[in-house]
Formats: sequence, C-alpha cells, structure tokens
Amino acid sequence: SIYLFFFVCVCVVALLLDGSFIHPLPPRGRPEDPQRMLEGDAAHARSPGSRSKDSLDLRDIFIAVKTTRKYHKSRLQLLSQTWVSKAKEQTFIFTDGEDKELRHKAGLNIINTNCSAAHTRQALCCKMSVEYDKFIESQKKWFCHMDDDNYVILPSLLELLSSYSHTQDVYLGRPSLDHPIEAAERVKSDGSVSVKFWFATGGAGFCISRGLALKMSPWASLGNFITTAEKIRLPDDCTVGYIIEALLEVPLTHTGLFHSHLENLQRLPTDNILKQVTLSYGGFENRRNVVSVGGAFSLAEDPTRFKTVHCLLYPDTEWCPRKTRH
Ligand SMILES: *[C@@H]1O[C@H](CO)[C@@H](O)[C@H](O)[C@H]1NC(C)=O
Repeated sequence: SIYLFFFVCVCVVALLLDGSFIHPLPPRGRPEDPQRMLEGDAAHARSPGSRSKDSLDLRDIFIAVKTTRKYHKSRLQLLSQTWVSKAKEQTFIFTDGEDKELRHKAGLNIINTNCSAAHTRQALCCKMSVEYDKFIESQKKWFCHMDDDNYVILPSLLELLSSYSHTQDVYLGRPSLDHPIEAAERVKSDGSVSVKFWFATGGAGFCISRGLALKMSPWASLGNFITTAEKIRLPDDCTVGYIIEALLEVPLTHTGLFHSHLENLQRLPTDNILKQVTLSYGGFENRRNVVSVGGAFSLAEDPTRFKTVHCLLYPDTEWCPRKTRH
C-alpha cells in the first residue's frame, strides 16, 4: 500500500499537469439532489423550499482549521484578519505548538493538539483525530475541516449546508481524483480483498453532518482514527473517505464549490467567485495560482486575493478602501 500512496500522489501530479483537474465531475445520485451542482452553479441549482429543511445558523457549524506552528504568522494572521473574524466563536485552530500571542491578541480558539509538527501521515492523522473529538464534544450540527490556506465564504457555506439535514448522513467535498481510489481492505478483512472509494480532498475543505460523524465513532474517536489510518496506511483525508464510503457505505456528495491550491484557480470565473464555498492560493515562487478577482487591492498588496475577496463580501470592514464601501 506504500505503492498505492505513491500512486495517489502520481495521479494528483498527472491531473495537475494535464490541467483537467477542475473539469466538472459527472453528476452522481438522484436527480433532485443538490449534489448534482457543478462548478459555479451555487444557489440556483437548488429547488425552492429546500432551504427551510434545517434553519441553520453559522453558530451550528464547527469549523476546524488545520495548521502548523511555522504558519502562525504568515497564514493565520491573514485568516484572522479576514473570514475567521466573522466566525470567531465557532472556528477552532488545530496546531502543534503554543502561541500565547495568537491566542490572546488575535482572540482565536487555538487547540494545541500536541501532535508532531512534521508533515507526515501520522502527524496529520493525529490532528484529524483531535479535530474529530473536539467536534463531537462541541454538540454542533456540522463539522467542516479547512486548511490554513483556505478562504471560507461563510454565506455560501451556510447556504450549502442549509439544503441538507445534519441528522442525515452527509459527507460533502471535492473529490481529489476523477475516479475512486482502491485500497486493500484491512479493517473489516485481512487485506486480501480491495475496496474502491471516493474521498474529499482535505486541501479544499470538506463537511460532515453530526449524524454521520457519530456513526464514524468506532473508527474515528479517541485515537481510533490513528489506528484506522495506520491499518490502511493512507493520508488523513483518504482515511475519512475510507471510513465513510468503504466502512459506513455512505457516498461522498461531490461538489465543485470547494477549491484547493492543487487546482488551476485562475480558471474560476470571476463573477462566480463569491458563490464558491472555499478558495485557496498557492505557487508564489514559480507561477502564481490565485483566483482572478479585482477590486480593493492590487496583486502586490494582496498576493493571495483573500483581502480583495473579503472586501467584496464585507465592504464595511475598516481596512477596506473607502471607494468599495456602500
Ligand atoms: C496537550 O498537552 C497539554 C499539556 O499536557 C494539555 O493540557 C492539553 O490538553 C493537550 N492537548 C490535547 C488536545 O490533548
């Protein structure tokens, strides 16, 4: 299965190189389902009335942001200035080192996972395990995992989750590949048979309903997540997919509204950017990979475009240029 791990990596690289990564995926599931939404189709794809199912408040969503100590200054500062400032109570930063300044000055909910700061499968799974346990403790309706290079468009997230019920089994995210991955089944059997499953790429963020999260408990709670990941020897986001799709037989709801730095972000249509649920940025060294959005700040002033997006969403923010305010 070490080969499988490399295979997944090779696939991701191959997809990136041929640029087909952001093509809409074939629709899955029943025709009336919102899961048929394709890239940029946000609100309009939903049937009227589907929103009243679950009158959801932002406070019902537990947002976990995975980071590491070395990104506290660069990445977290940007998040705490932008979208996290609009969801302070329900956003929890999962990191691997103490940072009193961040906790007190920025007023963020910081959770020191005590996991290793290494970017290894074990360390990442350790953080996911703590995220899961904290969510269960929180009593909130939805668990959303984000990376520290994601911008979360909160109104879109709320609208998307409002069209589902947190008591049902819901696993929402962007598939990492255009086909399911195959792994040896080592949890339910001895590894002689293989299973195929989809998983949501962690770098784009994904959400899980409380109903489904509770069912994951035997394989995810109190350190069991680490044991499960060790058995199948796959990264944290793959392991989540494995527990949900392969063990619980709940299908991933594919959505094109979540975005990671592995996609070509420039290709996102400008007039659809605010309808997305997550954005990302990457590749400063060689080729800048950011969403193309103009407005408040130049590329030099706002290389990630997160501040510009934030000013379009919240023009009354004190540091947004006057001219963009209403
Ligand atoms: C990490 O260790 C500290 C000190 O031992 C402890 O207070 C804290 O609860 C631990 N964090 C987690 C998530 O277990």
